Amino acid sequence: QELKLSLEQIEKGGYEHFMLKEIFEQPKSIHDTMRGRLIVEEGVIKMAGIWDHIERFKNANRIIIIACGTSWHAGLIGEYLIEEYARIPVEVEYASEFRYRNPIITDKDVVIAISQSGETADTMAALKLAKERGAFIYGICNVVDSSIARITDAGSYTHAGPEIGVASTKAFTAQLTILSLIALKLGKHNGNLGNAEFMSLIAELDAIPKKIEEVLSSTHELVQNIAKDFITTTNFLYLGRGYNYPAALEGALKLKEISYIHAEGYPAAEMKHGPIALIDENMPIVIIAPRKGHYDKIVSNVQEIKARKGKIIAVVNKGDTQVSEMSDYVIEIPQTSECFSPIVASVPLQLLAYYIAVYRGANVDQPRNLAKSVTVE
Ligand code: G6P
Repeated sequence: QELKLSLEQIEKGGYEHFMLKEIFEQPKSIHDTMRGRLIVEEGVIKMAGIWDHIERFKNANRIIIIACGTSWHAGLIGEYLIEEYARIPVEVEYASEFRYRNPIITDKDVVIAISQSGETADTMAALKLAKERGAFIYGICNVVDSSIARITDAGSYTHAGPEIGVASTKAFTAQLTILSLIALKLGKHNGNLGNAEFMSLIAELDAIPKKIEEVLSSTHELVQNIAKDFITTTNFLYLGRGYNYPAALEGALKLKEISYIHAEGYPAAEMKHGPIALIDENMPIVIIAPRKGHYDKIVSNVQEIKARKGKIIAVVNKGDTQVSEMSDYVIEIPQTSECFSPIVASVPLQLLAYYIAVYRGANVDQPRNLAKSVTVE
């Protein structure tokens, strides 16, 4: 027993939990995911899985992304990325819904499965169905040689390394990295993304690990202090627009999973169709409001919340004034292209969920009722 404990301690590398270790590993895991693929000096993205089947992608009627949980949130951001840069129609489906609703799928469709474990039963079943109907299956898995990785026609592994904490962190940002690479590569090869924009986007993507490092060092203590004020809170709202709407969903999921606080993510503009009724001085609202990406629209959403006395925790870019002035708590992150901002913005939200859960005495690495990989229906 003692030996087992100390081994675990070693594996945690000085961190109190695997989750915190994995949050802090993200500069490295994102870098590892890009290594050998993103070659900025040559202006290329090398991905054999895409390149070997480029015609299949170019001729695809549409791309259907299938996933569950956090991987599904990554898929939503993938939809924004691929539609914006490659102009291929994308649909994102929960594997559990897709598999049972007799979906329309043909041999002109490309299916992208996203799964950290590569063992999720619903995702596996959905893929088998799509495969039977002739779709080309592309996998984005973290676990090498997992069941999903084995049944796909091609794929790209996220090189995030083993993820032990049940709540996914570094696998999520690695999935976003792969999806970014795929979108930019497809856009370049199908002529929808011009060379100048391609070059500036890949330089931005290459800088993400450094920016995450910066976020970790500049927000760690701050977020820890913010968390202390929300230990007894029972509800949370997370809002974002555009690329950061799925980031809001993921932020809320992290909090639910490990702290057992009810949290909902919403596209900020949908607030007026329901959640606004919940806002009073007891409702904390996390707003993701980077400078690029519907900022002015977010400002008016924040004004509406302020008028109802909601407690605002804002994730903004360095030097922000408008949203910051109206917010109770301000978390600053470095600026990046809008399409990569969820990768950066997710990090303080992971820390916030982590510390709230830790202060509540929850078992962060193994939350009640949840499993790392759901191999049954
Ligand atoms: C479980 C895990 C989540 C994960 C989801 C999908 O619910 O607790 O963290 O996002 O399964 O798992 P996958 O391995 O397919 O990404």
